Amino acid sequence: MLVTNQLDHYYGQSHCLRGVDLEVAKASCTCLMGRNGVGKTTFAKCVIGLETPKNGEMFYDGYDLFKLSVEKRAAAGIGYVPQGRQIFPLLTVEENIRTGFFASGHGRSSIPDEVYELFPVLLEMKNRRGGDLSGGQQQQLAIARALVLKPTMLILDEPAEGIQPNVVQEIAEVIKMLSHEMAISVLLIEQKLPFIRKVADCFAIMDRGSIVANGRMDELNEDHVSEYLVA
Ligand SMILES: Nc1ncnc2c1ncn2[C@@H]1O[C@H](COP(=O)(O)OP(=O)(O)O)[C@@H](O)[C@H]1O
Ligand SMILES: [Mg+2]
Repeated sequence: MLVTNQLDHYYGQSHCLRGVDLEVAKASCTCLMGRNGVGKTTFAKCVIGLETPKNGEMFYDGYDLFKLSVEKRAAAGIGYVPQGRQIFPLLTVEENIRTGFFASGHGRSSIPDEVYELFPVLLEMKNRRGGDLSGGQQQQLAIARALVLKPTMLILDEPAEGIQPNVVQEIAEVIKMLSHEMAISVLLIEQKLPFIRKVADCFAIMDRGSIVANGRMDELNEDHVSEYLVA
């Protein structure tokens, strides 16, 4: 379980996260939503260690994240699928997947069977270049890369961005499988409400660096949606 208490982050003088309290429960999907620029990606970067918050607390399964390096957080089970996917276009699909091992600083090198079981298209295309894949396939590749370390939590930053609707449905199925069948805690950062409704158990809405509402998905009301989310 991930818990943050009163997390504050600044970029220079700009106060970007303001007292963020968030919980991501085990084996479920929590969606962090909110408009562009409110601080969602910054929050993800603070949790994985790419940014260091100025104040607050962050715990994951009993670990104090402030005391762990980026690599140790990955080794502790936190996986990350960045916004925009950030795959390597000139590496093959298999080489891209193997880069996932570097995140923890471990030398483990055999790709777990479930990665290709979850994404059979990546097995078919394992010798093709990452850049030759469609947007949806690149998203699958980015998730596969994060799964090689067998994370117990996965942070997915806007995985449906720029992907065709039929492929979005496939990504939704994968996220449900990760959270409900593979018992991975998922922190989904997302703005598309139909997609969120398909996969999320809980929500938290961020606005100008603060969490302004949270609860179970069935508690999300239309006022929240019209006030804080894109129409
Ligand atoms: N590296 C950075 N340096 C300075 N400002 C940044 C940086 N990254 C993001 N910001 C600013 O912080 C705010 C939150 O950005 P971000 O976390 O990317 O929001 P979101 O993911 O919700 O769209 C925005 O105003 C953005 O311009
Ligand atoms: Mg973002």
